Order: sequence, then C-alpha cells, then structure tokens
Amino acid sequence: MKPSFAVVGCGKVGTALGKFLTRKGYRLTGLSCKNRSSAQKAAEIIGTNHFSTVAWEITKNSEIVFITTPDSAIQETCFNIAQNNGFSQNTVVLHCSGALPSTILSPAKTCGAFTGSMHPLQSFADSKTDYNPFAGIVVSVEGDDNAVNTAREIVKDLGADFAKIKTESKILYHAAAVTASNYLVTLLDLAFKLIEEAGIAGKDAFKILKPLVEGTLDNIEKVGIPTALTGPIARGDIETVTRHLDEIGRKKPELLSLYRTLGLHTIDIALSGKTISESTAENLKKILLKN
Ligand SMILES: NC(=O)c1ccc[n+]([C@@H]2O[C@H](COP(=O)([O-])OP(=O)(O)OC[C@H]3O[C@@H](n4cnc5c(N)ncnc54)[C@H](OP(=O)(O)O)[C@@H]3O)[C@@H](O)[C@H]2O)c1
Repeated sequence: MKPSFAVVGCGKVGTALGKFLTRKGYRLTGLSCKNRSSAQKAAEIIGTNHFSTVAWEITKNSEIVFITTPDSAIQETCFNIAQNNGFSQNTVVLHCSGALPSTILSPAKTCGAFTGSMHPLQSFADSKTDYNPFAGIVVSVEGDDNAVNTAREIVKDLGADFAKIKTESKILYHAAAVTASNYLVTLLDLAFKLIEEAGIAGKDAFKILKPLVEGTLDNIEKVGIPTALTGPIARGDIETVTRHLDEIGRKKPELLSLYRTLGLHTIDIALSGKTISESTAENLKKILLKN
C-alpha cells in the first residue's frame, strides 16, 4: 500500500503533487491553503473533501507532509505545525524549493519527523493541468536518509528521474539552474542585440540563431564541453577576436564588458580542450582585458 500524504500550500506545485500522487495510489489525508477559497479550488481539482486553512488539522496522521507554500513561508509554516504537534513520529516532511535546503524544516525534527527537499526542475504555470508535469523531468533531492529514500520512491512513482544533491551546496545547485535557464536568456539577448546591428531584427534573429543553439546543445550532449567549443577562441584566432571587440566597442559599448567576461571564461575551456597553447591563451587574455 502507498503511504498517506498531506499538502500544505496547495498552489501550482502542491496541486500537481496532490493530483498525480493520488492517481498513483498515495492516500491524501488532506490539503491546506492560507485562504479557504484556494483550498476549495485545489480540493476540487484533486477530488477530495478534506481541506482546511489550519495546516496541522490535515497533517497530523500523514506519513508524508509536503510544505509547498511560497519559499518565504516554508520555515514559519513548518514551525507552526510542529508547535501544534502536527507531525507524527517518523513522518517525512518535504519542501519543493530549489533555493532552500532541507535544514529549514528542522522544527519538524522536534516531533521525530525526517526532513528533506525535492525540487522538480520544471516550470509549473497553472494548477489545473491534465498532463503529468513530473513525467520525464529530473527531481533533485537532499535531506535525511529516510526522507531521501521516501522521496526517491515518490519521484519514481511520478514518472520522473531522481538526482541526489548535497545539502550544504544546495544554493550552488540553484545558481546552476539559474545560469542554465535565466542566463541563457541573457546570452541570447546579447546575441540578438549584436545581430540586430547587422540588419536582422526581432523574430528573424531567433529563427537564424535557433539551429545554431540547438546544434551546440547536441554537440555538448554528444562530445562534452571542451570538444563542443568551436569558434575564434577555440582556434586561437586573435585577429577575429580583436575585430569583434573593436566593432562592439564602436557600435554597442554597453555590451563590451559582458562579451569580454564570456571570452575570458571561454579561453579556459579552450585550454582544457587543448585546442590552444598557453601562449595563445595569454595573448587572447591580454586583448580581452585591454582597457
Ligand atoms: N511554480 C514553479 O514553477 C515551481 C517549480 C519548482 C519548485 N517550486 C517550488 O514549489 C513551492 C510552491 O510554489 P508554487 O509555485 O506552487 O506556489 P503558489 O502557486 O504560489 O502556491 C502557494 C500556495 O501556498 C499557500 N500558502 C501561502 N502561505 C501559506 C501559509 N502560511 N500556510 C498555508 N498555505 C500557504 C497559498 O495559499 P493561498 O492561495 O490561499 O494564498 C498557495 O495555495 C515553492 O517552494 C517553489 O519554490 C515552484
């Protein structure tokens, strides 16, 4: 028999957990939200009559408790449930934040609970969804051994892949996700602004650059980062890099420092791939650091 569970904070992520774990045979003891109307809406989507605005009323007899409030409310919510003896001995308490470690759930330990975090690498935009948003994604987990083992089963039952991360470095995991997602946007914004100067604007810029981006992602997957690196820095083409810097400086000086910083990091990748010598790397660095 699958374990019982409660969802405290039943918004986009909490509702998806409620709905798709119920489908997998997990037994929902109840859900709670701050406002009654939100709790009722989530209860209708999941198909339960057990909802409340008082978290510890629905957590008390659950084997698993998800605290899926906004990040800023997780710690206080956990503290309030613990103060009201809302966690049973050996209950596994999990939150889904990507930036916060499981240690913020420490108040639950006073009730004899185990704590962990499981962060789905997915964007949940709507709580009403017919498809399973966990299917095929990666869920990153850390925490007590018991909590990690329970989360591993949950992740498998949701149709996702499991990745174990270090509790003490969780914030770096989050920085990595921000870099891969948010800073990819920043990087493409830089490319769009430069290509616009060459006479290509708007959605044409995306159309032209998309196959290049996809090809690069394919190469990284197939051959890894150093080998996937092509272009002037990988070739040690000092003249082309100099011309880039001169022209960006003339036409888009506000973008020059980002271009230089990316170039400097790229030299290290070329060096690790052994496509340039130490002396070429030094010359490239001098040019990129000039002025
Ligand atoms: N959305 C995403 O794409 C995504 C992806 C990965 C991880 N996460 C993580 O998942 C967690 C939930 O995010 P979300 O996007 O699902 O949030 P959300 O849609 O804003 O839902 C938050 C829910 O928490 C309830 N809540 C707020 N304060 C509460 C309190 N003090 N006690 C009980 N319930 C309370 C809200 O109730 P009311 O409606 O009544 O205010 C709402 O139902 C966060 O830790 C977030 O970092 C989110």
